[in-house]
Amino acid sequence: MSDPRPIGVFDSGVGGLTVLAEVRDRLPFEHTIYFGDTARVPYGVRDLSEVRGFAFEIIEYLTSLNVKLVVVACNTATAAALKASQERFEVPIIGVIEPGARAAVLDTRTRHVGVLATEGTVKSRAYARAVHYLDAGIEVCEQAAPAFVPLIEKGIVEGPELEAPAREYLGTFKERGVDAVILGCTHYPLISATINRLLGPEVRLISSAGQTALEVGRILSRRGYLRRPKHAEDFGRSTFVCSADPEEFAALGGRFLDEKIQAVAPAAVL
Ligand code: DGL
Repeated sequence: MSDPRPIGVFDSGVGGLTVLAEVRDRLPFEHTIYFGDTARVPYGVRDLSEVRGFAFEIIEYLTSLNVKLVVVACNTATAAALKASQERFEVPIIGVIEPGARAAVLDTRTRHVGVLATEGTVKSRAYARAVHYLDAGIEVCEQAAPAFVPLIEKGIVEGPELEAPAREYLGTFKERGVDAVILGCTHYPLISATINRLLGPEVRLISSAGQTALEVGRILSRRGYLRRPKHAEDFGRSTFVCSADPEEFAALGGRFLDEKIQAVAPAAVL
């Protein structure tokens, strides 16, 4: 049995492409549809109830395209809407917070874990809850980094404009003896070189993208939803949809995925 339906992946912008890249690496025969809500990015400064409404709309849209699974490739939307979405929709839906928390718990030696995330995710305390659910004694130090997403969406992933706020945000982790920092926003792996350099080699950065992709594979396999290719070259196709200018999205997204992509507005797909 082969299930050719696509996997739906969404984020407020280009950040979720870091998760998409891992999904495509691990599951190269799967078709994917990526939705970037570029008209409403950033999500991190909004009320969680507003973000929940956006997530419902996007999942509704993706299910109308017959996806077999939805990846909420956005921590803010995961914090705001994962549980409510799982109750509301029949399609399997997975988020990015629990996989990142698990990786950090396994990784830390000092038992001081840092979380760098949007204001919305930090306010939700979703990471602290997820870490403590696995290991209640771990210290969790959460830091909001509101300047990052607008810079990354402009394509600024290095240089002084990024470093000034980064120094301010990362200072807390150093003072608290943190040895593992969760990149609690899917945009942040795109600036991991700067974060890594400022934190130094003794602090490890944890991104949930790889763990999330593994989880996607496990769920598809358990449900018998994997696509079986007709031949070894029969790779999955990716479709990119965004809610603002498709050309801008294609230029930036293509740069981050390191390939030429074409993006369209939702109306072009429906
Ligand atoms: N990339 C998203 C996250 O993981 C959202 C960032 C934003 O839109 O503020 O939280």
